[in-house]
Amino acid sequence: MAKKDQSQENNLLKDIIAHAKEYGFVYPSSEIYDGLQAVYDYGPYGVELKNNLKKVWWESMTRLHENIVGIDAAIFMHPTTWKASGHVDSFNDPMVDNKDSKKRYRADVLIEEKAAQYENAGDIDRAKSLLSAMGRLMEAEDFAALRDLLINEEISCPVSGTTNWTEIRQFNLMFSTQVGSVADESSTIYLRPETAQGIFVNFLNVQKTARMKVPFGIAQIGKAFRNEIVARQFIFRMREFEQMEMQYFVRPGSELEWYKTWADTRIKWHEALGIPAEKLRRHDHEKLAHYANAALDIEYEFPFGYKEVEGIHSRTDFDLKSHQEYSKKKQQYFDPEINQNYIPYVIETSIGADRLFLMTLCNAYVDEEVDGKQRTYLKFHPALAPVKAAILPLTKKDGLPEKAREIVEALKYDFNLIYEDAASIGKRYTRQDLIGTPFCIAVDHQTLEDNTVTIRHRDTTEQERLPIAELHSRLSEACSFRNIFKQLV
Ligand code: GAP
Repeated sequence: MAKKDQSQENNLLKDIIAHAKEYGFVYPSSEIYDGLQAVYDYGPYGVELKNNLKKVWWESMTRLHENIVGIDAAIFMHPTTWKASGHVDSFNDPMVDNKDSKKRYRADVLIEEKAAQYENAGDIDRAKSLLSAMGRLMEAEDFAALRDLLINEEISCPVSGTTNWTEIRQFNLMFSTQVGSVADESSTIYLRPETAQGIFVNFLNVQKTARMKVPFGIAQIGKAFRNEIVARQFIFRMREFEQMEMQYFVRPGSELEWYKTWADTRIKWHEALGIPAEKLRRHDHEKLAHYANAALDIEYEFPFGYKEVEGIHSRTDFDLKSHQEYSKKKQQYFDPEINQNYIPYVIETSIGADRLFLMTLCNAYVDEEVDGKQRTYLKFHPALAPVKAAILPLTKKDGLPEKAREIVEALKYDFNLIYEDAASIGKRYTRQDLIGTPFCIAVDHQTLEDNTVTIRHRDTTEQERLPIAELHSRLSEACSFRNIFKQLV
């Protein structure tokens, strides 16, 4: 990305962050105390949007697939869970401090940024060789050589501008706390860094109680916590976030076919939610984690470049096998079709609800000039929009508010609405555009005569006259998840 483009993109992200705060989507956490880094709160419209995103994910998993069921596991888990999953020993980031600025960075992120600079300057080979050198050193855990790489590549601290780096150290990302009143090592428990393990340890409970047959899936939405070193880019990388994960248990040997199916299904899902295909790309992992035999990220072109939104991993039988070893409880399934016992293999789809939120917000944000006037609006898919319609009496008198209230009463059980009678109608339209309300319904004097209203469409600003009796079916048609689901079959 050229320098000018990069600053334009940074400005776009800044505008989106400011918009999110100003119009009630996302606030910095505990802001009156100057906030807490990488922790955010969702405001009135943010929580509605996030809930809609979680609901559409949940229903596409559990309702559209007869063989996928959900659970809601606790955040705290037995500490041995994290030994078995490998998180205690290897959920680490390589951390380096700049001695002059005292700022801390992830060494791999610094190197990746340098490689991106080479790539943007057209030096693809140099970018590739830098990344592969980094991959080799990280795998070998040769942190002294990784530090040399930082220095030889003249990668400097963005704050001090120097290459005066400390040794690189491994930093475990799990938050720990103490259970009970005595603080010793045996009472240490962790805040889960991924929701997936709650699914793995319940695999047999679910299989038996819901009488599931392989292949089947377990879906879950819940909070996860990571002590991220690099906390930047708004809600992209948070310390407390929400994951939506689905583990699909399959017969060993069939996993790569299912991996392909789920990768295609998930990309289609993002497109059905209104993300243009050209803003999405699939990044196949070259270096695989020790437990995976295939992995890819679905990336979206954020204002700060292509970044991961969702991961699809073929995790083999690593997790169940490891839990079997540590718990000494068999994690096997008897497959009646082939008359065999086995530990199923697992395909995982894992997406952050907050990252999905950020992608949806970035994709919806429109700031354009129309007839010499600036217009900003959020073009959310109507099924995802926080508020579906605003009911606006033209004036506060002549019985118009009462008529508008009647419409609210008729629609409020099925749609999230706003009633507003203050300020000019133009100002009220603008306010709804800024929070992405797809329809504004204006009640005027003609409404009292013939029971019709004007309905204004957010994206085109076009208006049409419609009988009140048709409003419910019009909104249902536009705002139903069915429009999204239809594209998935
Ligand atoms: N169980 C697999 C797993 O946790 P991951 O790639 O570490 O894999 C999956 O995380 C997804 O969770 C990511 O694609 C991203 O959407 C989200 N995610 C991970 N770390 C996050 C963070 N610090 N803040 C927000 N979302 C995060």
